[in-house]
Amino acid sequence: MKHTVQMIIDGQTIDLPVLEATQGLDVVDVRSLISQGVYTFDPGFLSTAACDSAITYIDGDAGILTYRGYPIEQLAEHSEHLEVCYLLLHGELPTAEELATFKRGINDRMPIDEHFAHIFDGFTAKSHPMSMLCAAVAGLAAQFHEGLDIYNPEHRTESAMQLIAKIPTLAAMSYRKSIDAPFIAPDPNLGYAENFLNMCFGSQGQPANVSPTLAKALDKIFILHADHEQNASTSTVRLAGSTEANPYAAIAAGIAALWGPSHGGANEAVLEMLNEIGDIRHVADFVNKAKDKNDPFKLMGFGHRVYKNFDPRATVMQSSCHEVLKEQGVEDEPLLAVATALEKIAREETYFIERKLYPNIDFYSGITLKAMGIPTPMYTVLFTLGRMPGWIAHWSEMLSVPFKIGRPRQLYRGPTQRDYQDISQR
Ligand code: SDX
Repeated sequence: MKHTVQMIIDGQTIDLPVLEATQGLDVVDVRSLISQGVYTFDPGFLSTAACDSAITYIDGDAGILTYRGYPIEQLAEHSEHLEVCYLLLHGELPTAEELATFKRGINDRMPIDEHFAHIFDGFTAKSHPMSMLCAAVAGLAAQFHEGLDIYNPEHRTESAMQLIAKIPTLAAMSYRKSIDAPFIAPDPNLGYAENFLNMCFGSQGQPANVSPTLAKALDKIFILHADHEQNASTSTVRLAGSTEANPYAAIAAGIAALWGPSHGGANEAVLEMLNEIGDIRHVADFVNKAKDKNDPFKLMGFGHRVYKNFDPRATVMQSSCHEVLKEQGVEDEPLLAVATALEKIAREETYFIERKLYPNIDFYSGITLKAMGIPTPMYTVLFTLGRMPGWIAHWSEMLSVPFKIGRPRQLYRGPTQRDYQDISQR
């Protein structure tokens, strides 16, 4: 694209600058349009770049995803979640010493203050873990507010470390509350995913006994979920953060946004859908429902705003799913047969091919988590755990340079001005 594009408004030619990307699409800078008395209109932001960022790159047509330039496939194969957290936050892979220091810093911050744990007293076993987690993270803003200077890079790094450290502990506490079981404290001798699994499924006062295969599979799931550029929940964190709000409150807003079944809540919805289909004999009926414009049913785990090709995370997730099912001895998991039949139809049906609806990351993560014994209501909690470094890296990136409060305008289509009428006249 040239360095400027032209727009003709009421016969006047307006030159708009083009900002160049290091990879992917350049953008037309429309900020000057307001001075021409014109807005752009883009509900859902399909054609809108809301910011510039150096964290994650997605090419939806080619099915490419990189964190700070590193392909997701390589990170999933060779890295570990805390190393990816460091990469997202600091922009470079750590040395062995930097990683050891970072891991110690996370371990030191994992414990939750006993007094704060009473925040869970307000919930019951029936409370959805996402509601508990959203409230608990917002509650951290009470603990970390006085003296927090969001413009101080060291304070931003401390907030990031606290959130990455505390989210597994709070997530495990929400699970333990949902089964009316006592909380288990984090063990500084365990790895990140191993610690989470032990805090969920361990026994108080007993040594951890976590399957290394399951811990590695979960760590890989966290890597796959760690960031995804300007998705709905990350955009929510940026918008909340643009008001200079407390970072823990801004992250709680992101958790709330992630919960929706169109976004991070899809992994839970995929399992509910597969259970509802139940058997491969019913797959065709559900595919027809998904194609029916008059039926609100959508195939959960299919489609994506950006990927118009296979979600590269779904490919990694699919192979990890088979490894876990084999490890757990449930290779004949009936839901996998339903999922495989769904995927096959989606690859062959015109409706899905025309709309480029491919399985996304949520399609296989639900089956994997089920095979790991994770209860369905916890799936989006795990997505939250994985996405934490991405959210806080975007929040910090936004605050590290001059920024403006996010405040979109609108196309007004309400009543034109009219005078108040006394009730006796109505
Ligand atoms: C995540 O943004 C991110 O990066 C998100 C995420 C991340 O890591 O942060 O990747 C995580 O949220 C993945 C997506 C999880 N959601 C689901 O699996 C829910 C099911 N998918 C759909 O709700 C939908 O595909 C979305 C929400 C994911 C995307 O919606 P879009 O981009 O607004 O697309 P659309 O709704 O305009 O659909 C285009 C067409 C429509 O048909 P037509 O009106 O053109 O005839 O495709 C149809 C839709 O009806 N369609 C589907 C469908 N998804 C889209 N039809 C049936 N089943 C589906 N799943």
